[in-house]
Amino acid sequence: MTKKPTINIGIPEDVRKKIAAGLSHLLADSYTLYLMTHNFHWNVKGPMFNTLHVMFMQQYTEQWTALDLIAERIRSLGFPAPGTYKEFSKLASIQEVEGVPAATDMIQHLVDAQEATARTARDLFPLVNDANDQPTADLLTQRLDVHEKTAWMLRSLLEE
Ligand SMILES: [Fe+2]
Repeated sequence: MTKKPTINIGIPEDVRKKIAAGLSHLLADSYTLYLMTHNFHWNVKGPMFNTLHVMFMQQYTEQWTALDLIAERIRSLGFPAPGTYKEFSKLASIQEVEGVPAATDMIQHLVDAQEATARTARDLFPLVNDANDQPTADLLTQRLDVHEKTAWMLRSLLEE
C-alpha cells in the first residue's frame, strides 16, 4: 500500500474539509447555473432571440471556465471534487427548471439562480476568512463579482 502524502499548508485538516464541503456546494450551484444558461441559449425564442442567445453564450462560457477553478481549489485543499449529476443534484441549492419557459421567465430563472450562487459563495466567507485561506477568498470574491454583476444585467432586461 502506498502512503498517503500529508498536506501541511497551515490550515488544519478539519478546516480544509469544511471549506472543501462549502466549495462543493458552490461547484454544484455553479454547474446547475451553467447548464441552465446553456439550455436557455439553445431553447430561447421570441423577439429578444438574438440578444439573449448571444448573452447566454457569453455567460455560460465564463461559467464553464470557473467550474474548473472551483474544482481545482477543492483538490488543492486535499479533497475530491464532486463531478456527477447525482452529487450535484444533492449539493445544489438551485432547482432545475422543467420544460421550455418563455424568454422573460428564462431571464427571471437566471436572476434567481445567479443570486442563489452568490449566496452560496457568500455563506462560505466567514469560515474562509477565519482560516486565512486567501486563495479561496480570492476565488469567492471573483465569483461574487461575476454573479452579482450578471444578476444586475439580467434584472435590467426585465425593467421598463
Ligand atoms: Fe451555440
